[in-house]
Amino acid sequence: MSTVETITQVITQSLPASLVLRPQPAPVAQNNEADKGDPYRYAHLLPVFPQDEHYPPLTPFDHVDPASRALNHPNPRSFLDNSTSIVQLTPHLGEEVRGVNLATLDSDGRDQLALEVARRGLMIFRDQQEFIDRGPDFYLEWGRHFGRLHIHPTSGHPENYPEVHLVYRDGNATYNFEREDRITSTTWHSDVSYELQPPGLTTFFLLSAPETGGDTAFTSQVAALKRLSPQFVAFLRTLKAIHSGFEQAAYSRSGRRGGVVRREPVQNVHPVIRKHPVTGEEAVYVNRQFTRRIVGLKKEESDAILNLLYDHIDKSVDIQARVKWQPYTVVLWDNRITAHSAIVDFTVGERRHGARITPQAERPIPALEGLNLTA
Ligand SMILES: [Fe+2]
Repeated sequence: MSTVETITQVITQSLPASLVLRPQPAPVAQNNEADKGDPYRYAHLLPVFPQDEHYPPLTPFDHVDPASRALNHPNPRSFLDNSTSIVQLTPHLGEEVRGVNLATLDSDGRDQLALEVARRGLMIFRDQQEFIDRGPDFYLEWGRHFGRLHIHPTSGHPENYPEVHLVYRDGNATYNFEREDRITSTTWHSDVSYELQPPGLTTFFLLSAPETGGDTAFTSQVAALKRLSPQFVAFLRTLKAIHSGFEQAAYSRSGRRGGVVRREPVQNVHPVIRKHPVTGEEAVYVNRQFTRRIVGLKKEESDAILNLLYDHIDKSVDIQARVKWQPYTVVLWDNRITAHSAIVDFTVGERRHGARITPQAERPIPALEGLNLTA
């Protein structure tokens, strides 16, 4: 027995049985059927890219945030009453719940959920097989409770369900395109922030996962803002930035992914610091993937400020949380106050198949009241 094993044994024997970590059997990954050659259980949700699918530009709409309906609830966390476990992932964001079946939440429960996600930024619900197996008609009904469903301009979707955004990689992927010309796959972003009314509460789950890896990283854009000096924040609150979907469309048109642009790309101006419509919290709202330029500043000035914010977001592990996927996990986040990044670290050839339901929310509210958002 090695010295390390001896020490481990001594420590273990001195601990109460409840605190001793014992090897656990690996969970059965949802991709097992597929990767063993059996019919893939979620084959009906594999992505398609119909080449003749086109939509007109999105039109503005009034968004009533479901979280606002829970604000005056006597117990806005009663939807968690049946939970068997609630773990705060980090002080800044993230709450992991077991024992609550999202599929059976009523309208009031969904409003409460929206408020809890707005407050914690990120929620992880384990053991949600019923939710996932109810299928795409249910996904749409679920999402519509929270806002008008977004149809992604370039991603694959299940046949006849364009509102369900799919992320997908399998054995046919011969390289990690995120790393094709970069040293990392890490790309912090808020989903489709180029839209005039980007998403708020967003739901995502994996139908098939790699044996290990493929986690998703999240960060709190509220906490990121709080780390900055009051003088700098006061300046940032006066700024607005252009967010663009043109590069994403061009990437798709280049044929490297799907080849579809089902709605012509747009760019929109958003405040650099936005205010959450329900909690009133202020958050940084720029991201490397879609933000291009701060309006009114010279290029070097814009680049310097954006890069400072991106670097701050990149390296602040102390305001981040990481979702380790387990079978039948459903994750929800508030795209207005968090950023996230896929982690493309898994073996090329493994299947990773996820579905996102993306309700749009309000046009971002500037933290600085009266900020003019014309370009
Ligand atoms: Fe995303």
